Amino acid sequence: MSQFKTSFITKNEMPLVLEPTRPLKREEFKELIQEENPFIRESIKKYGCVLFRDCPIDGTDEFNETVDFLKIGEKVNYIGGDSPRTKVKGAVYTSTEAPPGIKIPLHNELSFQKNFPKHICFYCDIPPQTGGETFVGDARKIYQDVDPHVRDRFEKGGLKYISRYYHKSRIMDLMNQIQKGHKNWIQVFETDSKMEVEKRCRDKNFDFRWLKNDWLEITQVGPTWITHPETNEKVWFNQIHLYDYNPKFIGTMRYLGVKMFYCRKDTLVHEACFANGKKIARQDLYHVMDVLDKNSAYFPWKRGDLMVCDNILAMHGRSSFTGPRRILAAMTA
Ligand SMILES: [Fe+2]
Repeated sequence: MSQFKTSFITKNEMPLVLEPTRPLKREEFKELIQEENPFIRESIKKYGCVLFRDCPIDGTDEFNETVDFLKIGEKVNYIGGDSPRTKVKGAVYTSTEAPPGIKIPLHNELSFQKNFPKHICFYCDIPPQTGGETFVGDARKIYQDVDPHVRDRFEKGGLKYISRYYHKSRIMDLMNQIQKGHKNWIQVFETDSKMEVEKRCRDKNFDFRWLKNDWLEITQVGPTWITHPETNEKVWFNQIHLYDYNPKFIGTMRYLGVKMFYCRKDTLVHEACFANGKKIARQDLYHVMDVLDKNSAYFPWKRGDLMVCDNILAMHGRSSFTGPRRILAAMTA
């Protein structure tokens, strides 16, 4: 029997909510999560993610410390990721700062990287006024729900992710001030040294090449699905649908804007294709997005909430929102 009260907040049984049975002081909570560590880790593996609610976790430092106490691996920096984020402290970042009007569909974090994070933890510092949920979905169920023909086409083709980042550009900086969406490679690699970028690309097994005006192109081929190393379950494991600019993802007006702004292909921030360069049929990507939508479980954030996702079993996304919103993220390997 756990000393936490357990419940579900969505009909998808994800996440499992863990609440203390009485108000706890911070030190008592730290003792509790140490005592309950086997139960917490088993719950993450069984349900894919857990949500600590009404626990004494106040602000960045306590979030950072709690992640360490959970013993779910060493925290890692967000190197090579394309999502606009701000480093807050150590390996704690803001969650995506993509424009509030865009809904980010479910995905596994950095699924195209060889050493993807094994867990991603989210902390609610400022809950959004409307929307802005970090919704989750069970990647085991999603694997089952995707049409096997689509799955075969993806698997045979191998999923190629292409990213292009600028170095220094006033126009791009200005665009990013208006609406964040295109990082420069200094932000992506957390260094201004080309030599260091090349080293980090080699360390992470990225294919890379330098383009005109010091732009950098990174190419990675990732899987369609994988097997969880501990539970042996097959899971949908990719984020190729986020690399295709299409009206379903970013809306018609933004789509037309992207088409005009990135009329030169060598500056287009993202491209998705098969490993041999062939196009992925848009109706296949739309089918996957529909399956992801159907499997998305929403719940409103409450200040102090901490959600821990097994990055293989649980996919996450972000709803569009209004008003201020500050959700922090930390990843572990
Ligand atoms: Fe993400």
